[in-house]
Amino acid sequence: MNTEKKTILVTGGMGYIGSHTTVALIEQGFDVVIVDNLSNSSSFILERIQQISGVLPKFYQVDCCDKAALEKVFIQENSIVASIHFAALKAVGESVEKPMLYYKNNLVSLMNIIELQLQYEIPKLVFSSSCTVYGEPDFLPVTEKSEIKPATSPYGNTKQIGEEIILDISRNSPLQAIALRYFNPVGAHASALIGELPNGTPNNLVPYITQTAIGKQPYLRVFGNDYNTPDGTCIRDYIHVVDVAAAHVAALNRLLIIPERPQFEFFNIGTGNGNTVLEVIHAFENATGVKLPYQIYPRRDGDIEKVYANTDLSNNVLGWKSNLNIEQMMASAWAWEQKLSTIK
Ligand code: NAD
Ligand code: UFG
Repeated sequence: MNTEKKTILVTGGMGYIGSHTTVALIEQGFDVVIVDNLSNSSSFILERIQQISGVLPKFYQVDCCDKAALEKVFIQENSIVASIHFAALKAVGESVEKPMLYYKNNLVSLMNIIELQLQYEIPKLVFSSSCTVYGEPDFLPVTEKSEIKPATSPYGNTKQIGEEIILDISRNSPLQAIALRYFNPVGAHASALIGELPNGTPNNLVPYITQTAIGKQPYLRVFGNDYNTPDGTCIRDYIHVVDVAAAHVAALNRLLIIPERPQFEFFNIGTGNGNTVLEVIHAFENATGVKLPYQIYPRRDGDIEKVYANTDLSNNVLGWKSNLNIEQMMASAWAWEQKLSTIK
């Protein structure tokens, strides 16, 4: 029996979703090599991954846009069998202000990874995409066949262009790829040792909720209560980051084990349930017993009214399903925020 462990290259593995996925991969018996430039993460995450998993993954502080430095990783780590490419900048507002930074960082890093994977004959890739590619959908829930809408930000465009780059290259090379279109990843690992580390004041709902609950923010602003939804606030498909991590293990196993596949596939990674902002607030209050002060504010520019996933394809083809509910997402996000306040 071949008991040799398979090594997975995880770019952006020190970040929010990447660190949870690294833990899941180690738990499933993979070796992990992380490449991250720490532009949006901290080095202490590495020891946290070790604390949870009992394994210290190899870490290279390398910018994926620096092809020569990235190639050294491929030369040194010759047992890599596939990669998961998380490394990207992800702040929508910042991408509008600094489009060049986003196009360069997100697309050059992707092209470097693909080029090196083809050069070193390791053509299996999992790519972080986003439900942002669906924009404001015409029909709900969105399936993978739903129309791709013009991107509303340079960030969103990097995901659309990223998928197109992969599609074109996979048609003309041995590249085999799976893009996972995440809906709204939230929550933290059950240990509360890793979680989301927002840079400055959070833009996203759940970190803003937990920072409000702990007193770092005075109150939560609810952006708009006049949408065409049951309580007037926007609907999203929030999904536990631990479930998102498990989807990567499923995608990787599909790439490694199933020989007959289309060369490029994409899957929705959500729960299939939509929750309004007010429902999320109430779920947080129920899960934690902490009352959350909030005020209704005007709509936020560019917000989608409602989006949630049809998950039939990821359930049936990927063999993956989300397990954790909105209360579990809130309780874990809160435990992480509380732990964070003791070390920051
Ligand atoms: P994150 O910022 O926590 O993690 C990204 C990691 O990549 C960070 O550690 C950062 O330092 C690193 N990085 C960025 N550019 C790099 C580069 N050029 N070279 C090396 N490392 C680099 O973000 P996340 O929430 O974990 O997101 C991971 C991926 O998932 C991203 O591609 C993001 O666009 C995508 N995504 C995230 C969400 C979400 O809501 N979190 C939703 C949809 C898609
Ligand atoms: N919201 C508030 N108050 C806040 C923050 C958010 O009411 O302080 C509301 C928003 O208006 C929206 C909902 O909470 O209705 C969710 O907002 P998030 O910012 O948490 O998430 P988005 O769905 O707007 O965007 C996220 C990522 C994007 C990604 C998109 C689709 O931030 O990067 O999901 O994947 F493109």
